Amino acid sequence: MGDKLLIAGNWKMHKTPQQTREYFEQFLPQVEGVNGVEILICPPFIDIPAAVEMTKDTPVKIGGQNCYYEKEGAFTGEISPVMLKAAGCEYVILGHSERRHIFGESDELINKKVISALEEGLRVILCVGETLQERESGLTFTVVESQLKLGLSGVEDKLSQIEIAYEPVWAIGTGVAAKPEDAQEVHKFIYSVLENLNPEGAKKVRVLYGGSVKPANAEAILSQPHIKGVLVGGASLKPDSFAEIVKIGQRLTA
Ligand code: 13P
Repeated sequence: MGDKLLIAGNWKMHKTPQQTREYFEQFLPQVEGVNGVEILICPPFIDIPAAVEMTKDTPVKIGGQNCYYEKEGAFTGEISPVMLKAAGCEYVILGHSERRHIFGESDELINKKVISALEEGLRVILCVGETLQERESGLTFTVVESQLKLGLSGVEDKLSQIEIAYEPVWAIGTGVAAKPEDAQEVHKFIYSVLENLNPEGAKKVRVLYGGSVKPANAEAILSQPHIKGVLVGGASLKPDSFAEIVKIGQRLTA
């Protein structure tokens, strides 16, 4: 997808369609003319039509936060990659730690979703990251490597359609981001794992950092050599703060 930094917002379970429209009314004028970074918002499913409509004819892209791996069928409460694509999504986040830890998603399930989403032509943001307990037990690299290998099993030749988000679970929603140099170390490791899977493809993957990214720390995070974007939760909910992060990315690119 090119060399641009990817500045992505994950709204999680926030905002109604009306609030989505209001958000973009405020957000879009603030990022007008920004062309050095790629901007993505992943709203709840119910808000996707409003988000797609509002961002039509703008460079802002829309993605889903999850999907199932079947195209259609008796899967109450689920949504398929075909549907996301038809609704105007270009991306889907898969394997978010909240999906793994609150909803019990396994690497095997996530891998099926990754395969299916790629088949439908969606770009995938695969999330990986260790819990606090795993970090304190010295298992960060082991956990991240295993999540990458299992999540990407069978799609190693499609890395050009994939981004990775490193989201240490202990940094999500806590206000305390990983230290930029600690994140950098894991990002470098992630690139080494990807290179082992597919040396050429690995160069095309953007590895994003997520976990308490905000305007105050975005510059230090995005300045690390192996950090190619951010996945922002809480700070993406306010148009002003997300626009500020976008502009920091743009400034670093210029
Ligand atoms: P916060 O930015 O709220 O910590 O969330 C990060 C995240 O989980 C993005 O997917």
